[in-house]
Amino acid sequence: KRPAGAPDRSLARPVTKVGIVGAGLMASQLALLFVRRLEVPVVLTDLDQERVDKGVAYVHAEIDKLLAKGRIGGDKANRHKALVSGALSGGAEGVDAFSDADFVIEAVFEEMSVKKQVFADVEKTVSPECILATNTSSLSITEMAADLEHPERVVGFHFFNPVAVMPLLEIVKGERTDDATLATAFATGKALKKTTILVKDSPSFIVNRLLGRFMGGVGRIVDEGTPVPVVDSAFAGVAPMPPFMLLSLVGPAIALHNNETLHRAFPDRFYVSPALERVVAARKAAYYGPDGSLDPE
Ligand code: CAA
Repeated sequence: KRPAGAPDRSLARPVTKVGIVGAGLMASQLALLFVRRLEVPVVLTDLDQERVDKGVAYVHAEIDKLLAKGRIGGDKANRHKALVSGALSGGAEGVDAFSDADFVIEAVFEEMSVKKQVFADVEKTVSPECILATNTSSLSITEMAADLEHPERVVGFHFFNPVAVMPLLEIVKGERTDDATLATAFATGKALKKTTILVKDSPSFIVNRLLGRFMGGVGRIVDEGTPVPVVDSAFAGVAPMPPFMLLSLVGPAIALHNNETLHRAFPDRFYVSPALERVVAARKAAYYGPDGSLDPE
């Protein structure tokens, strides 16, 4: 059955090579998913060689784990590993790497100006039909596409962490996204074995808008004096993961960015926790200290 709002499947274009901009936490998980499910060449790019190498090494290590667990055979593991490569973004190497891709997804820093620049650069190197997908968790697809020559090929393609396990994929249609792009996004999501839903291009879409409300509430409880471990233990058996453990998984900077985006859009309805701001400012990955406070000091 066609997901609600999905255009006719016959409009979908084949995906034969995938480019991924960024080689960080989400990007490397996406590379693994694409190579396993689509079995097409996947190129990971980033600004420095160390990050590119780390992204490729992550994919190889995860394939090795699947092999060790007996989930895949040696032939498949070798085939999948050989399909993944890395290249530096920008520069001649990066341009070549993407020139014959028909589906490029970006998973770089969650900042509109950065993502717009990435798409402007990618658009110079790919064909006019190449899909430009964004894994943004909160930003406007319409705005991200606005200055491009072909805004109709931009679509939101939002995954959840851990990508290998979480079933949902939010597909976001910008004002100018065309039916062929949307149909390709749905067909690709299906090939990736995700549950696809069409969501409105509104701040943080569906899941993160709800999660932002929840995490804002949790942050307020902590700001009012309840220790973080107490809040987390309150959720034992209620949620798959306690809230501050989830925060740690997703990354405090992403969570803060989400709440700030929502607060800007709906100031009366979303709370930005000062304690969370301090954790992010201190660049802490840990979600609470030995005294049980969210404060990094
Ligand atoms: N990468 C790959 N696989 C992972 C993984 C990871 N980081 N973490 C767990 N898994 C796999 C395990 O290997 C295991 O697979 P097998 O059964 O095939 O061996 C399976 O997941 C279950 O893992 P565990 O038994 O170790 O642990 P669990 O039962 O506690 O489940 C969990 C782990 C699925 C992560 C669960 O805790 C959960 O659902 N947490 C909530 C996650 C969530 O809400 N994510 C959304 C965050 S919001 C977001 O991402 C949006 C955004 O834009 C910021």
